[in-house]
Amino acid sequence: MILVTGGAGFIGANFVLDWLAESDEPVINLDKLTYAGNLESLASLQDDPRHIFVQGDIADKELLKQLLSKYQPRAIINFAAESHVDRSIHAPEEFIQTNVMGTFHLLEVTRHYWEGLEAGDKENFRFLHVSTDEVYGSLHKTEPAFTETHAYQPNSPYSASKAASDHLVRSYYHTYGLPVLTTNCSNNYGPYHFPEKLIPLVIVNALAGKPLPIYGDGQQIRDWLYVKDHCSAIRCVVEAGQCGETYNVGGWNEMPNIEIVQTVCTLLDEHSPRADKQKYAQQISFVTDRLGHDRRYAIDAQKIQRELGWKPQETFATGIRKTVQWYLDNQTWLANVQSGAYREWLDKNYQGREV
Ligand code: NAD
Ligand code: DAU
Repeated sequence: MILVTGGAGFIGANFVLDWLAESDEPVINLDKLTYAGNLESLASLQDDPRHIFVQGDIADKELLKQLLSKYQPRAIINFAAESHVDRSIHAPEEFIQTNVMGTFHLLEVTRHYWEGLEAGDKENFRFLHVSTDEVYGSLHKTEPAFTETHAYQPNSPYSASKAASDHLVRSYYHTYGLPVLTTNCSNNYGPYHFPEKLIPLVIVNALAGKPLPIYGDGQQIRDWLYVKDHCSAIRCVVEAGQCGETYNVGGWNEMPNIEIVQTVCTLLDEHSPRADKQKYAQQISFVTDRLGHDRRYAIDAQKIQRELGWKPQETFATGIRKTVQWYLDNQTWLANVQSGAYREWLDKNYQGREV
């Protein structure tokens, strides 16, 4: 079996669902269930014996030791993290705690477990760390996309904490020989995305008749990847990646934020028109920029294609259409994640941003 951390979050839940759709190999899912963890995303696995959910922290060494000794996983995939840049600006400490210290404790316990495995199991074991393109910093418009050898230049507390975790993972390979792999992926979108992030936030606000907040001039560029393509890349790397290597994962789809929001508005106009027949784009509102806002990310995903044969299956046009439709079809999931805590976050992040 495999152990997945953070498997109740956006990408982790998609990964667990995809994994069990593709194979019968069981998954232990360790998740602290922070505000971002949501068991409703895994409701279809409720009675599935192949999914073992454990609520807990990746920084809890005793719990980790127990889980590894009991279940003897052949691989660990580390999704668990604090993941929202804006939250890292308001309150960075939890990012250091989970992303840095949590990853460190997970590595330490994994190392002891791996050292005690029989020769064959030891050789086949893998630790895959899921990371981000944000560790590479920001690109100017004409610079080439990030390759795996691009210098680390993180600019937010979030990306700095992810960079620190990547360095720790790398060091466990070079120092102890732990068979690690790291993936650095671009912006994901798709089902089960918590509506604090741009695309689901815009869908929720649009349908509720609220303003669609665009930070700064809306010309910041991200490279968008449909979440299921990220899941297939991780499966590919865990099975065939070279230990100690990093693999960039991206959608070859750079777009400015304003175009993303306009595309979502057009799809909503088509599938769920406003009662007053006006366009959703009228709700767009330019607000004060994010502090230290990175201007452009772009992933060069040639290495994973060349070495492992992976490339994305969805274009942005097909992926965003599926995504908007998923949110329209899953209004209960969406309503349930907009709890009191979610509304408090909206007040904290958006109140006082000048329009
Ligand atoms: P998310 O915030 O939606 O989910 C994170 C999950 O981790 C939640 O279920 C949460 O409960 C859990 N968690 C948090 N702290 C924990 C802890 N201490 N112990 C155990 N579980 C804990 O995040 P996501 O968007 O699904 O991202 C998953 C991973 O992928 C992160 O490592 C993130 O840095 C990385 N990543 C995300 C994107 C993206 O676009 N979302 C892109 C590239 C990489
Ligand atoms: O690049 C990968 C990263 O993508 C991941 O590592 C992070 O975990 C993930 O959250 C995401 O980070 P971003 O900051 O790029 O995603 P977010 O959805 O928060 O913002 C996308 C862009 O939209 C960014 O330029 C900021 C802008 N934005 C965001 C929000 C929430 C707005 O203009 N308005 C908003 O209200």
